[in-house]
Amino acid sequence: MTATLIDGAALAKRLRVQVAERAHALSAKGRPPGLAVILVGDDAASAVYVRNKVKDCEESGIRSVLQRLPADTSEHDLLARIDALNADPAIHGILVQLPLPPHIDARRVIETISPDKDVDGFHVASAGALMTGQPGFLPCTPYGVMKLLEHAGAKLAGAEAVVIGRSNIVGKPQALLLLQADATVTICHSRTRDIAFHTRRADILIAAVGRARIITGDMIKPGAIVIDVGMNRDADGKLCGDVDFESAARVAGAITPVPGGVGPMTRAMLLVNTLEAAERRP
Ligand code: GUN
Repeated sequence: MTATLIDGAALAKRLRVQVAERAHALSAKGRPPGLAVILVGDDAASAVYVRNKVKDCEESGIRSVLQRLPADTSEHDLLARIDALNADPAIHGILVQLPLPPHIDARRVIETISPDKDVDGFHVASAGALMTGQPGFLPCTPYGVMKLLEHAGAKLAGAEAVVIGRSNIVGKPQALLLLQADATVTICHSRTRDIAFHTRRADILIAAVGRARIITGDMIKPGAIVIDVGMNRDADGKLCGDVDFESAARVAGAITPVPGGVGPMTRAMLLVNTLEAAERRP
């Protein structure tokens, strides 16, 4: 391996310490930051994610309120709960864990969360703010990726940045953030004719496809910074990213591992957003 390892777990730990200091300062003024987390149904992966989010809050001085609702909760009931949390001055952030059961319209649920409490950054107002360069909450994964790039000393102005994936949660906001940082941005997706043609030109390569090890070393420009957002299981059930770490690390200048790269940063940025939501409140 020649690439430098970008240690997301270590950076996330440092961020959590900073969040905890600021959270305790708010608590000392009688304004503890509060995050409401709503989990509908019993999806096993979602239950693990939510448990981790609650644990992160505990460790960072953020008060979390978990609402576990049965899978047959009506959309009407869920929206009423969000309205109540919107009006609750002790709650600064609201997160509804996705996916939701099929009878609930996730878009309507997200748009019911007050943009002031949209710490996931999924509301159309948050997306619009990002699009137009106005202040708003950034989605946690792309926000965390920008922190990792900063930490890795990436020079973004004028750099060729290639994002693979065009989801509303990662690919699209990631591309906008890189554009805001003056990179020249290309977005590749499932219909892109020759992905390797683009990736080989990338000084900054962000893989957010959701397919195990599809980016291999021969697709990477020597010295590039490679950020792997993927979290997949391979045929042997082993956790792996979208990037074939072994071959990529021989070519890249710096690379994130999976696990221990982007994942911990996504979790940390939720804490940062919640803290900032609380600090903004008078
Ligand atoms: N499901 C998987 N990731 C996320 C996330 O970041 N936020 C929410 N609300 N649901 C998710």
